[in-house]
Amino acid sequence: MSNSAPVGVFDSGIGGLTVAQEVIRQLPHESVIYFGDTARVPYGPKSPDTVRRYSREIASFLNEQGVKSIVIACNTATAHALTALRQEMDMPIIGVVEPGARAAVAASKRGHIGVIGTAGTIKSGAYERAIRALEPDIMITVRACPLLVPLVEEGWTEHEATRLVAKEYLQPMIDAEIDTLVLGCTHYPLLKALIADVLGPDVRLIDSAEETAAETARTLATANLAAESDADPTYRFIASDDPLQFLQLGQRFLGGTMEGVEIRTLG
Ligand code: DGL
Repeated sequence: MSNSAPVGVFDSGIGGLTVAQEVIRQLPHESVIYFGDTARVPYGPKSPDTVRRYSREIASFLNEQGVKSIVIACNTATAHALTALRQEMDMPIIGVVEPGARAAVAASKRGHIGVIGTAGTIKSGAYERAIRALEPDIMITVRACPLLVPLVEEGWTEHEATRLVAKEYLQPMIDAEIDTLVLGCTHYPLLKALIADVLGPDVRLIDSAEETAAETARTLATANLAAESDADPTYRFIASDDPLQFLQLGQRFLGGTMEGVEIRTLG
């Protein structure tokens, strides 16, 4: 496999662009192909089998495009499909759960971590398993926050309605006195300021996007797959539906890095 091959990044839709953005920022010489499954979003409420099937289809499409590694930028897809893709694909596969869990354990001062995510991610127990594998006795409080994804997609990242919803979801975490909160969904980094405001200054927020990009850098280096330091990167963005809406929302995440969007239907 060539070091100049692109890194594949995929998500159920646009949210994974928070991860792609960090990969582009932290690995400025890596080319990236991003696939957003906008035709089948959201993955959060879907069954593990369905999410695994979608993830396999996307991984095989990215493989056909010649990627050297795949970043599953979606927490729900990581929770349901990381193990299967690691077994089935002949390249490094990076998920968002382990990096987030590691950063949370390192950040936690009083040993009480909160995790928020989609219904699928929380029900899977993936974050609890990953955190307990590192620190068996740590306290963990989890909460599914399904209403936050549509509010972010509506662009309501600072809206009073979003603050009320976030407060409702997070009050049990405040009462339980968590000291660290994992933002276990692609969309939540866009609510970082609002969530920090609701939780107050004593709670550390863990952004899986930053941690996953750092993990991608380490994985590529270990596998001798990192791009050369003089490589000129290229970026492709592909959506499975409505590329125009993807472009408009995507530019909110990525600005000018996203010049256009291709369309590709899978399944
Ligand atoms: N990308 C999903 C995640 O991180 C959120 C959106 C969805 O439900 O598909 O879990």
